[in-house]
Amino acid sequence: VSKELQPLFDAHELLCKFYHHLLVNTKEGQHALEYLLERGFTRESIDKFQIGYSLNSWDFVYKFLLKRNFSPESMEKAGLLIRRERDGTYFDRFRDRIMFPIFDRNGSTIAFSGRSLGADQPKYLNSPETAIFNKSKILYNYHLAKPAIRKMQHAVLFEGFADVISADRSGVENGIATMGTALTDEHIAILRQNVHSITICYDSDNAGIEAAYRAGNLLSDASFQIKVAMMPDGLDPDEYIKQFGYEKFQNEVIGGSLTWMAFKFLYFRREKNLQNEGDRLAYIEEIITEISKLDKAVERDHYLRQLATEFSLSLDALKLQQKQIFFAKK
Ligand code: UTP
Ligand code: MN
Ligand code: MN
Ligand code: MN
Ligand code: MN
Repeated sequence: VSKELQPLFDAHELLCKFYHHLLVNTKEGQHALEYLLERGFTRESIDKFQIGYSLNSWDFVYKFLLKRNFSPESMEKAGLLIRRERDGTYFDRFRDRIMFPIFDRNGSTIAFSGRSLGADQPKYLNSPETAIFNKSKILYNYHLAKPAIRKMQHAVLFEGFADVISADRSGVENGIATMGTALTDEHIAILRQNVHSITICYDSDNAGIEAAYRAGNLLSDASFQIKVAMMPDGLDPDEYIKQFGYEKFQNEVIGGSLTWMAFKFLYFRREKNLQNEGDRLAYIEEIITEISKLDKAVERDHYLRQLATEFSLSLDALKLQQKQIFFAKK
């Protein structure tokens, strides 16, 4: 590590420990700890993920770092302090928030995401991009999950930190998440080094389903085996686990994951009324287009038959249309 970057790493490591200490050992952190326990986080998870609390103060971190000889300029570059335009003084970026440290692949703390305790916006405040933190390359929990991912040859991709942590507690140790951004080619390149099979387990609300469709397409283009786990009623995995328990999450949500094709069948019929002829024809065409992307003739045949049965269509007609779509693409 270069001489300029070392203080950025050092400050993050110090603060990670101190935020954690504030959460678990101090009166100031007590309401934050209660909030987490109330939500179903356990002491074990809080330790394992080094969750912490940032004080409700404008200059606690500033003074804390100054006392330890960090320069405010470099701590601003680390994303920990913010400089006031007006008079050039500094203040703490994270105040009165639950602190989730973000680790790189070596387990070094390189950023934080702070969750507000109340209705303060944004709900999660993230470190800005810095010399040591690039959001589009970081997968939350990758450093802890990697051994399990390699061993199982499988990873589970979540939307949020809380989902990764709840799932971990229920025995899903190969869970990772992006940092509130879409999955990028860089994320995929990192994953590919260790795994080719992924279950997408995003929130079952509209945004989550759309994001799952986009992530699935990217992963599918990169030749991953994909499954999609879904929950009822727009729940996210953390909420589902709290409501229905670990076992149901493992057995029904993860265990009942859809194949990528089955997910797309559901995805394309969302917001369509299949009783309506126009919608029905549009749906059939979308599905045939998907089927024509499949490499294996046996798979194409399987899904065409499924479609023929569902809509009482002749298999020959479907096959013909599939070939037309296939050749139109060339
Ligand atoms: P969600 O809105 O689904 O939050 O955003 P969540 O994970 O369920 O959070 P809880 O359970 O209310 O605490 C999913 C992810 O998007 C990012 C975070 O990484 C979050 O985990 N996000 C969300 C942000 O970066 N900023 C925000 O303001 C909100
Ligand atoms: Mn601890
Ligand atoms: Mn969400
Ligand atoms: Mn969520
Ligand atoms: Mn949630």
